[in-house]
Amino acid sequence: MNSTASPATASPPAYPLFPKSEPARAAVRVRHDDLLDFVAAVFTTRGLAPERAREAAGALCYGDLVGMTSHGLVNLTRLYLPLFDEGRVDPLAEPRVLADLGAAVLLDANRALGLWAAGLAMEIAAARAATYGVGLVSVRGGTHLGCAGHHALRAVGHGMVGVVASNCGRQRIARPPGGAVAMLGTNPISVAAPAGEHPPFVLDMSTTAAPTGRVRQAARQGAELPQGVLAGDDGAPVTDAAAFDEGRAHLLWLGGAAGQYKGFGLGLAVEVLAALVPGAGLGAHPDAYDGDGGPNGRDDDIGFFALALAPGALREGVDGDAATLFGALLGCPPTDPALPVRYPGWHEHRRAEKRRRAGVPLGADLYAELTSLAAATGLDAPAPVVER
Ligand SMILES: NC(=O)c1ccc[n+]([C@@H]2O[C@H](COP(=O)([O-])OP(=O)(O)OC[C@H]3O[C@@H](n4cnc5c(N)ncnc54)[C@H](O)[C@@H]3O)[C@@H](O)[C@H]2O)c1
Repeated sequence: MNSTASPATASPPAYPLFPKSEPARAAVRVRHDDLLDFVAAVFTTRGLAPERAREAAGALCYGDLVGMTSHGLVNLTRLYLPLFDEGRVDPLAEPRVLADLGAAVLLDANRALGLWAAGLAMEIAAARAATYGVGLVSVRGGTHLGCAGHHALRAVGHGMVGVVASNCGRQRIARPPGGAVAMLGTNPISVAAPAGEHPPFVLDMSTTAAPTGRVRQAARQGAELPQGVLAGDDGAPVTDAAAFDEGRAHLLWLGGAAGQYKGFGLGLAVEVLAALVPGAGLGAHPDAYDGDGGPNGRDDDIGFFALALAPGALREGVDGDAATLFGALLGCPPTDPALPVRYPGWHEHRRAEKRRRAGVPLGADLYAELTSLAAATGLDAPAPVVER
């Protein structure tokens, strides 16, 4: 049975937590290729070479393509262009190999744009895995990589399993359980794997209950947060998204009250893998004590962990087993026939397929931002798709 063909799957179920898969007010749809051209052109105005600009544009537009909108185009003017303007990203940076053991490489990204450099790290990791069965590229001196899943998926393009994690440099956002001071970032991790004829498995998430981008997105949309994302200093749940940036609430780890040490432990595991191993900026540091307990520090000197595994180099039959594994999950009888069982990455893959055909939906505010950016940079804004 091809369980992915069920008519009930035509429109993905709404995410239970945040309104995020579609913009609150989708004003226009824009062809994905036009978005890529525009964003690449914007990056070249900041001095990035065209090939790097194109790769970076792919990583940024991935967020809007798959529905991870908190880490898509909304960050172009809020995060990435300011990084160039403040000299915190070097458009001409040449990453430098600091150590090379064959299967393991240590790279200094030298402040290259993380949207591009994380992809480079995964490509090197995959090339090494093709030889050794495993390839690790450990990166220091990085800048914000966007959606970790985009970079992990590159391994799937090579028929491999990819793991990508990133710390947030010296930016501290979340407190250890019981702590009164923020010590770690939202530390994303992604594991991506081929799934035979099914959409690839892509677990891609912050290790806090939500990334700050999702909290701010909810604040901009005036949406309430579910309990378990923010808490006040007294530990009481806070559902007002604006409370985070106003210093009235702090971000919680994944797992809620009963599982906070699991989420915290995962965030710390990312700090070890992505930052301690390469010697990147650490979140937990005595400098953190100076603040008022809230977010502090800057997301400079970020560390990445890019691991590629080539199980096909170790044994035959992996692809067939993957198809069995993920096919069985898709065939799992659902409790509600309107909500078939899906695994991480499935909805993102289907959304991307649809949006490549029909255009990427953009909210009115975001489209207006891109239009003013076009005017400011002397570029043509990407034209909306005309409905016929
Ligand atoms: N660069 C950074 O510093 C940074 C920090 C934090 C997060 N991020 C990125 O932000 C993005 C969003 O992270 P998030 O934590 O909000 O992710 P999310 O909560 O939207 O999704 C987390 C995972 O759950 C899966 N999932 C969610 N609903 C599902 C459903 N109904 N069925 C099946 N699977 C489902 C998704 O596929 C995903 O793998 C990610 O790309 C992450 O890498 C980046």
